[in-house]
Amino acid sequence: MKILVTGGAGFIGGNFVQYMVNKYPEDTIVNLDLLTYAGNLETCKSIENKENYKFIQGDIADRKFIFDLFEKEKFDIVVNFAAESHVDRSIESPESFVRTNVNGTTTLLDACNTYGIKRYHQISTDEVYGDLPLDRLDLFFTEETPINPSSPYSSSKAAADLFVLAYHRTYGLPVTISRCSNNYGPYHFPEKLIPLIISRALADKNVPIYGDGKNVRDWLHVYDHCEAIDLIIRKGKVGEIYNIGGHNERSNLEVVKNILGILGKSESLIKYVEDRKGHDLRYAIDPTKIESELGWKPKYSFETGIKHTIEWYLNNEDWWKNIISGEYKKYLEKMYKNI
Ligand code: NAD
Ligand code: TYD
Repeated sequence: MKILVTGGAGFIGGNFVQYMVNKYPEDTIVNLDLLTYAGNLETCKSIENKENYKFIQGDIADRKFIFDLFEKEKFDIVVNFAAESHVDRSIESPESFVRTNVNGTTTLLDACNTYGIKRYHQISTDEVYGDLPLDRLDLFFTEETPINPSSPYSSSKAAADLFVLAYHRTYGLPVTISRCSNNYGPYHFPEKLIPLIISRALADKNVPIYGDGKNVRDWLHVYDHCEAIDLIIRKGKVGEIYNIGGHNERSNLEVVKNILGILGKSESLIKYVEDRKGHDLRYAIDPTKIESELGWKPKYSFETGIKHTIEWYLNNEDWWKNIISGEYKKYLEKMYKNI
Protein backbone atom coordinates (compact mmCIF):
# COMPACT_ATOMS: atom_id res chain seq x y z
CA MET A 1 0.00 0.00 0.00
CA LYS A 2 1.08 3.56 -0.66
CA ILE A 3 0.25 5.87 2.23
CA LEU A 4 0.42 9.66 2.03
CA VAL A 5 1.10 11.29 5.40
CA THR A 6 0.82 15.08 5.34
CA GLY A 7 2.55 17.16 8.03
CA GLY A 8 5.01 14.33 8.69
CA ALA A 9 7.83 16.72 9.62
CA GLY A 10 5.81 18.06 12.56
CA PHE A 11 5.41 16.67 16.06
CA ILE A 12 2.71 13.99 15.79
CA GLY A 13 3.08 13.38 12.03
CA GLY A 14 6.84 12.94 12.53
CA ASN A 15 6.30 10.30 15.21
CA PHE A 16 3.66 8.64 13.01
CA VAL A 17 5.85 8.35 9.88
CA GLN A 18 8.66 6.80 11.94
CA TYR A 19 6.19 4.35 13.48
CA MET A 20 4.70 3.39 10.09
CA VAL A 21 7.99 3.12 8.16
CA ASN A 22 9.42 0.79 10.82
CA LYS A 23 6.25 -1.26 11.40
CA TYR A 24 5.20 -1.80 7.78
CA PRO A 25 8.29 -2.32 5.57
CA GLU A 26 6.00 -3.62 2.79
CA ASP A 27 4.10 -0.30 2.61
CA THR A 28 5.47 2.91 1.08
CA ILE A 29 5.13 6.00 3.26
CA VAL A 30 5.21 9.35 1.45
CA ASN A 31 5.69 12.30 3.78
CA LEU A 32 4.40 15.58 2.33
CA ASP A 33 5.22 18.68 4.36
CA LEU A 34 5.56 22.37 3.57
CA LEU A 35 8.29 22.76 6.23
CA THR A 36 6.77 25.80 7.91
CA TYR A 37 8.37 27.05 11.14
CA ALA A 38 6.91 23.89 12.80
CA GLY A 39 8.29 21.39 10.28
CA ASN A 40 11.75 19.94 10.82
CA LEU A 41 13.40 17.23 8.74
CA GLU A 42 15.71 16.42 11.65
CA THR A 43 12.62 14.75 13.16
CA CYS A 44 12.65 12.19 10.32
CA LYS A 45 16.42 11.62 10.29
CA SER A 46 16.18 8.04 11.60
CA ILE A 47 14.18 6.92 8.54
CA GLU A 48 15.43 9.21 5.76
CA ASN A 49 17.38 6.43 4.00
CA LYS A 50 14.77 3.69 4.35
CA GLU A 51 13.59 2.22 1.05
CA ASN A 52 9.90 2.45 1.94
CA TYR A 53 10.09 6.19 2.78
CA LYS A 54 10.00 9.30 0.64
CA PHE A 55 9.84 13.00 1.58
CA ILE A 56 8.23 15.63 -0.64
CA GLN A 57 8.14 19.33 0.20
CA GLY A 58 4.83 20.95 -0.74
CA ASP A 59 1.68 22.76 0.30
CA ILE A 60 -1.61 20.89 0.85
CA ALA A 61 -3.49 24.06 -0.16
CA ASP A 62 -1.70 24.29 -3.55
CA ARG A 63 -4.33 22.72 -5.81
CA LYS A 64 -2.27 22.19 -8.93
CA PHE A 65 0.62 20.70 -6.99
CA ILE A 66 -1.68 18.35 -5.04
CA PHE A 67 -3.59 17.18 -8.10
CA ASP A 68 -0.35 16.52 -10.03
CA LEU A 69 1.02 14.59 -7.05
CA PHE A 70 -2.11 12.42 -6.68
CA GLU A 71 -2.20 11.71 -10.42
CA LYS A 72 1.42 10.56 -10.35
CA GLU A 73 1.56 8.66 -7.05
CA LYS A 74 -1.86 6.92 -6.87
CA PHE A 75 -2.15 6.77 -3.08
CA ASP A 76 -4.20 4.08 -1.31
CA ILE A 77 -4.51 5.88 2.02
CA VAL A 78 -4.20 9.56 2.98
CA VAL A 79 -3.63 10.61 6.61
CA ASN A 80 -3.85 14.37 7.02
CA PHE A 81 -1.84 15.79 9.94
CA ALA A 82 -0.76 18.99 8.14
CA ALA A 83 -2.07 22.00 10.00
CA GLU A 84 -1.32 25.24 11.70
CA SER A 85 -1.58 23.93 15.25
CA HIS A 86 -0.81 26.57 17.87
CA VAL A 87 -3.77 28.31 19.56
CA ASP A 88 -1.73 31.40 20.54
CA ARG A 89 -0.62 31.95 16.93
CA SER A 90 -4.23 31.54 15.75
CA ILE A 91 -5.27 34.34 18.11
CA GLU A 92 -2.56 36.63 16.67
CA SER A 93 -3.24 35.80 12.98
CA PRO A 94 -6.07 33.43 12.04
CA GLU A 95 -5.66 33.66 8.25
CA SER A 96 -3.05 30.93 7.75
CA PHE A 97 -5.25 28.61 9.85
CA VAL A 98 -8.10 28.99 7.38
CA ARG A 99 -5.76 28.48 4.45
CA THR A 100 -4.02 25.31 5.63
CA ASN A 101 -6.59 23.75 7.95
CA VAL A 102 -9.71 24.40 5.86
CA ASN A 103 -8.60 25.02 2.25
CA GLY A 104 -5.78 22.50 2.55
CA THR A 105 -8.19 19.83 3.78
CA THR A 106 -10.75 20.46 1.03
CA THR A 107 -7.98 20.42 -1.60
CA LEU A 108 -6.90 16.97 -0.37
CA LEU A 109 -10.52 15.78 -0.29
CA ASP A 110 -11.04 16.95 -3.90
CA ALA A 111 -7.89 15.16 -5.02
CA CYS A 112 -9.07 11.97 -3.24
CA ASN A 113 -12.42 12.25 -4.99
CA THR A 114 -10.81 12.79 -8.38
CA TYR A 115 -8.12 10.09 -8.25
CA GLY A 116 -9.77 7.62 -5.84
CA ILE A 117 -8.42 6.29 -2.53
CA LYS A 118 -9.29 3.46 -0.18
CA ARG A 119 -9.31 5.67 2.95
CA TYR A 120 -8.93 9.33 3.89
CA HIS A 121 -8.20 9.88 7.58
CA GLN A 122 -8.47 13.34 9.14
CA ILE A 123 -6.44 14.09 12.27
CA SER A 124 -8.74 16.35 14.24
CA THR A 125 -8.67 17.46 17.87
CA ASP A 126 -10.82 17.37 21.00
CA GLU A 127 -10.68 21.18 20.88
CA VAL A 128 -13.51 21.14 18.29
CA TYR A 129 -15.88 20.34 21.20
CA GLY A 130 -15.04 23.61 22.99
CA ASP A 131 -14.45 23.26 26.72
CA LEU A 132 -16.02 21.73 29.84
CA PRO A 133 -16.58 23.51 33.17
CA LEU A 134 -13.94 22.97 35.87
CA ASP A 135 -16.54 21.99 38.48
CA ARG A 136 -18.27 19.19 36.50
CA LEU A 137 -15.78 16.33 36.62
CA ASP A 138 -18.58 13.96 35.57
CA LEU A 139 -18.64 15.49 32.05
CA PHE A 140 -16.52 14.17 29.14
CA PHE A 141 -16.40 14.70 25.37
CA THR A 142 -18.04 11.83 23.49
CA GLU A 143 -18.33 11.57 19.70
CA GLU A 144 -21.92 12.85 20.09
CA THR A 145 -20.91 16.04 21.94
CA PRO A 146 -21.88 18.96 19.67
CA ILE A 147 -18.92 20.82 18.20
CA ASN A 148 -18.57 24.25 19.77
CA PRO A 149 -15.04 25.55 19.13
CA SER A 150 -13.62 28.58 20.95
CA SER A 151 -10.42 29.65 19.20
CA PRO A 152 -9.61 30.43 15.55
CA TYR A 153 -7.49 27.23 15.62
CA SER A 154 -10.27 24.96 16.87
CA SER A 155 -12.82 26.66 14.59
CA SER A 156 -10.66 25.93 11.56
CA LYS A 157 -10.29 22.29 12.65
CA ALA A 158 -14.06 22.00 13.21
CA ALA A 159 -14.73 23.48 9.74
CA ALA A 160 -12.37 20.91 8.24
CA ASP A 161 -14.18 18.06 10.06
CA LEU A 162 -17.51 19.22 8.64
CA PHE A 163 -16.10 19.15 5.10
CA VAL A 164 -14.69 15.66 5.66
CA LEU A 165 -18.11 14.40 6.81
CA ALA A 166 -19.85 16.21 3.94
CA TYR A 167 -17.58 14.54 1.37
CA HIS A 168 -18.54 11.18 2.85
CA ARG A 169 -22.27 11.89 2.76
CA THR A 170 -22.30 13.71 -0.59
CA TYR A 171 -19.70 11.83 -2.66
CA GLY A 172 -19.35 8.60 -0.68
CA LEU A 173 -15.65 9.28 0.06
CA PRO A 174 -14.39 6.62 2.53
CA VAL A 175 -13.35 8.82 5.45
CA THR A 176 -12.64 8.51 9.16
CA ILE A 177 -11.90 11.24 11.71
CA SER A 178 -10.03 11.01 15.01
CA ARG A 179 -10.24 13.63 17.75
CA CYS A 180 -7.40 13.29 20.21
CA SER A 181 -6.61 15.11 23.43
CA ASN A 182 -3.34 17.04 24.04
CA ASN A 183 -0.27 15.03 23.02
CA TYR A 184 3.21 15.10 24.53
CA GLY A 185 6.41 13.19 23.84
CA PRO A 186 9.53 13.31 21.63
CA TYR A 187 9.89 15.99 18.90
CA HIS A 188 7.26 18.30 20.44
CA PHE A 189 7.89 21.86 19.26
CA PRO A 190 9.00 24.02 22.22
CA GLU A 191 6.21 26.61 21.80
CA LYS A 192 3.73 24.17 23.42
CA LEU A 193 3.39 23.93 27.20
CA ILE A 194 5.34 20.77 28.09
CA PRO A 195 8.46 21.23 25.91
CA LEU A 196 8.43 24.99 26.65
CA ILE A 197 8.57 24.29 30.39
CA ILE A 198 11.25 21.59 30.03
CA SER A 199 13.51 23.75 27.84
CA ARG A 200 13.10 26.91 29.94
CA ALA A 201 13.51 25.13 33.27
CA LEU A 202 16.71 23.44 32.05
CA ALA A 203 18.05 26.93 31.27
CA ASP A 204 16.87 28.20 34.71
CA LYS A 205 14.50 30.65 32.99
CA ASN A 206 11.08 31.59 34.40
CA VAL A 207 8.25 29.33 33.23
CA PRO A 208 5.04 31.10 32.16
CA ILE A 209 1.62 29.95 33.38
CA TYR A 210 -1.37 31.64 31.79
CA GLY A 211 -3.99 32.94 34.26
CA ASP A 212 -4.24 30.96 37.51
CA GLY A 213 -2.97 27.65 36.10
CA LYS A 214 -6.22 25.84 36.92
CA ASN A 215 -7.10 25.04 33.28
CA VAL A 216 -7.16 21.30 32.71
CA ARG A 217 -5.79 19.35 29.74
CA ASP A 218 -6.10 15.59 29.13
CA TRP A 219 -2.58 14.42 28.18
CA LEU A 220 -1.79 11.46 25.90
CA HIS A 221 1.66 10.19 24.95
CA VAL A 222 2.20 10.59 21.21
CA TYR A 223 3.13 6.88 20.79
CA ASP A 224 -0.33 5.91 22.09
CA HIS A 225 -1.87 8.35 19.60
CA CYS A 226 0.11 6.77 16.72
CA GLU A 227 -1.14 3.28 17.61
CA ALA A 228 -4.72 4.53 17.75
CA ILE A 229 -4.48 6.10 14.27
CA ASP A 230 -2.95 2.92 12.83
CA LEU A 231 -5.90 0.94 14.23
CA ILE A 232 -8.48 3.38 12.89
CA ILE A 233 -7.13 3.43 9.32
CA ARG A 234 -7.04 -0.38 9.24
CA LYS A 235 -10.10 -1.36 11.31
CA GLY A 236 -12.17 1.80 11.86
CA LYS A 237 -15.61 2.06 10.25
CA VAL A 238 -15.92 4.41 7.29
CA GLY A 239 -17.87 7.60 8.07
CA GLU A 240 -17.11 7.35 11.81
CA ILE A 241 -15.47 9.66 14.33
CA TYR A 242 -13.22 8.22 17.08
CA ASN A 243 -12.22 10.14 20.21
CA ILE A 244 -8.75 9.30 21.55
CA GLY A 245 -7.68 9.94 25.14
CA GLY A 246 -6.35 8.10 28.18
CA HIS A 247 -7.99 9.81 31.18
CA ASN A 248 -4.88 11.75 32.15
CA GLU A 249 -6.40 15.04 33.22
CA ARG A 250 -4.04 17.47 34.91
CA SER A 251 -4.22 21.19 35.66
CA ASN A 252 -1.46 23.23 34.01
CA LEU A 253 -0.07 24.03 37.43
CA GLU A 254 0.14 20.31 38.31
CA VAL A 255 1.95 19.58 35.04
CA VAL A 256 4.45 22.38 35.53
CA LYS A 257 5.16 21.45 39.17
CA ASN A 258 5.57 17.81 38.16
CA ILE A 259 8.17 18.71 35.50
CA LEU A 260 10.05 21.08 37.82
CA GLY A 261 10.09 18.33 40.48
CA ILE A 262 11.54 15.70 38.10
CA LEU A 263 14.19 18.17 36.89
CA GLY A 264 15.04 19.16 40.47
CA LYS A 265 14.24 22.81 39.77
CA SER A 266 12.65 25.29 42.18
CA GLU A 267 8.95 26.19 41.91
CA SER A 268 10.07 29.81 42.26
CA LEU A 269 10.69 29.65 38.47
CA ILE A 270 6.89 29.73 37.99
CA LYS A 271 5.66 33.07 36.71
CA TYR A 272 1.92 33.75 36.36
CA VAL A 273 1.33 35.78 33.20
CA GLU A 274 -1.68 37.32 31.45
CA ASP A 275 -4.30 34.73 30.52
CA ARG A 276 -4.83 33.53 26.95
CA LYS A 277 -7.84 35.21 25.28
CA GLY A 278 -10.88 32.88 25.38
CA HIS A 279 -8.81 30.27 27.26
CA ASP A 280 -10.61 26.89 27.24
CA LEU A 281 -11.12 25.66 30.82
CA ARG A 282 -11.10 21.89 30.64
CA TYR A 283 -10.73 19.16 28.03
CA ALA A 284 -11.56 15.54 28.90
CA ILE A 285 -12.09 12.66 26.47
CA ASP A 286 -14.39 9.68 26.87
CA PRO A 287 -12.50 6.99 24.88
CA THR A 288 -15.15 4.25 25.31
CA LYS A 289 -15.86 3.93 21.57
CA ILE A 290 -12.27 3.30 20.39
CA GLU A 291 -11.62 1.03 23.38
CA SER A 292 -14.71 -1.12 22.94
CA GLU A 293 -14.96 -1.16 19.11
CA LEU A 294 -11.26 -1.33 18.18
CA GLY A 295 -9.67 -2.68 21.36
CA TRP A 296 -7.30 0.32 21.76
CA LYS A 297 -5.76 0.98 25.17
CA PRO A 298 -3.02 3.49 25.96
CA LYS A 299 0.28 2.08 27.25
CA TYR A 300 1.60 5.20 28.99
CA SER A 301 0.31 6.70 32.23
CA PHE A 302 1.15 10.39 32.58
CA GLU A 303 3.73 9.52 35.26
CA THR A 304 5.74 7.16 33.02
CA GLY A 305 5.14 9.22 29.87
CA ILE A 306 6.39 12.50 31.31
CA LYS A 307 9.56 10.85 32.68
CA HIS A 308 10.20 9.27 29.27
CA THR A 309 9.63 12.65 27.59
CA ILE A 310 11.96 14.55 29.92
CA GLU A 311 14.65 11.91 29.34
CA TRP A 312 14.21 12.33 25.60
CA TYR A 313 14.69 16.12 25.86
CA LEU A 314 17.79 15.59 28.01
CA ASN A 315 19.25 13.12 25.48
CA ASN A 316 18.32 15.14 22.38
CA GLU A 317 19.37 18.66 23.24
CA ASP A 318 20.63 19.32 19.69
CA TRP A 319 17.15 18.81 18.25
CA TRP A 320 15.45 21.48 20.39
CA LYS A 321 18.40 23.80 20.91
CA ASN A 322 18.67 24.25 17.12
CA ILE A 323 15.01 25.31 17.06
CA ILE A 324 15.34 27.69 20.00
CA SER A 325 18.37 29.42 18.55
CA GLY A 326 16.86 29.90 15.07
CA GLU A 327 13.97 31.96 13.68
CA TYR A 328 11.74 30.78 16.55
CA LYS A 329 13.86 32.82 18.99
CA LYS A 330 12.08 35.99 17.81
CA TYR A 331 8.66 34.49 18.66
CA LEU A 332 9.84 33.49 22.15
CA GLU A 333 11.25 36.96 22.79
CA LYS A 334 7.97 38.58 21.70
CA MET A 335 5.67 36.21 23.62
CA TYR A 336 7.61 36.11 26.86
CA LYS A 337 9.42 39.45 26.85
CA ASN A 338 8.21 40.47 30.31
CA ILE A 339 9.10 37.37 32.29
P1 NAD B 1 2.83 20.64 14.25
O1 NAD B 1 2.56 22.11 14.19
O2 NAD B 1 3.96 20.13 15.10
O3 NAD B 1 3.07 20.08 12.78
C1 NAD B 1 2.33 20.50 11.68
C2 NAD B 1 3.12 20.13 10.42
O4 NAD B 1 2.32 20.51 9.28
C3 NAD B 1 4.45 20.86 10.29
O5 NAD B 1 5.47 19.95 9.94
C4 NAD B 1 4.22 21.87 9.16
O6 NAD B 1 5.40 22.15 8.40
C5 NAD B 1 3.16 21.15 8.34
N1 NAD B 1 2.34 22.07 7.53
C6 NAD B 1 1.76 23.24 7.95
N2 NAD B 1 1.10 23.82 6.93
C7 NAD B 1 1.23 22.99 5.86
C8 NAD B 1 0.75 23.02 4.52
N3 NAD B 1 0.00 24.05 4.08
N4 NAD B 1 1.07 22.00 3.70
C9 NAD B 1 1.84 20.96 4.12
N5 NAD B 1 2.34 20.89 5.37
C10 NAD B 1 2.03 21.89 6.23
O7 NAD B 1 1.45 20.00 14.70
P2 NAD B 1 1.17 18.69 15.57
O8 NAD B 1 1.10 19.08 17.00
O9 NAD B 1 2.06 17.60 15.14
O10 NAD B 1 -0.33 18.38 15.11
C11 NAD B 1 -0.57 17.55 13.98
C12 NAD B 1 -2.06 17.40 13.80
O11 NAD B 1 -2.64 16.83 14.98
C13 NAD B 1 -2.79 18.72 13.56
O12 NAD B 1 -3.76 18.51 12.58
C14 NAD B 1 -3.40 19.05 14.91
O13 NAD B 1 -4.57 19.80 14.73
C15 NAD B 1 -3.70 17.66 15.45
N6 NAD B 1 -3.71 17.51 16.91
C16 NAD B 1 -2.66 17.95 17.66
C17 NAD B 1 -2.66 17.73 19.04
C18 NAD B 1 -1.49 18.15 19.90
O14 NAD B 1 -1.58 18.04 21.13
N7 NAD B 1 -0.38 18.60 19.34
C19 NAD B 1 -3.76 17.09 19.65
C20 NAD B 1 -4.83 16.66 18.84
C21 NAD B 1 -4.78 16.87 17.48
P1 TYD C 1 -0.72 24.33 24.58
O1 TYD C 1 0.47 23.43 24.77
O2 TYD C 1 -0.54 25.58 23.77
O3 TYD C 1 -1.89 23.42 24.01
P2 TYD C 1 -3.48 23.77 23.82
O4 TYD C 1 -3.68 25.23 23.88
O5 TYD C 1 -3.74 23.21 22.45
O6 TYD C 1 -4.18 23.01 24.91
O7 TYD C 1 -1.24 24.77 26.03
C1 TYD C 1 -1.61 23.79 27.00
C2 TYD C 1 -2.16 24.56 28.20
O8 TYD C 1 -1.07 25.29 28.81
C3 TYD C 1 -3.20 25.60 27.85
O9 TYD C 1 -4.18 25.63 28.89
C4 TYD C 1 -2.45 26.92 27.81
C5 TYD C 1 -1.37 26.70 28.84
N1 TYD C 1 -0.09 27.40 28.60
C6 TYD C 1 0.50 28.14 29.64
O10 TYD C 1 -0.03 28.23 30.76
N2 TYD C 1 1.70 28.75 29.39
C7 TYD C 1 2.33 28.68 28.17
O11 TYD C 1 3.40 29.30 28.00
C8 TYD C 1 1.71 27.91 27.12
C9 TYD C 1 2.35 27.80 25.76
C10 TYD C 1 0.50 27.27 27.39
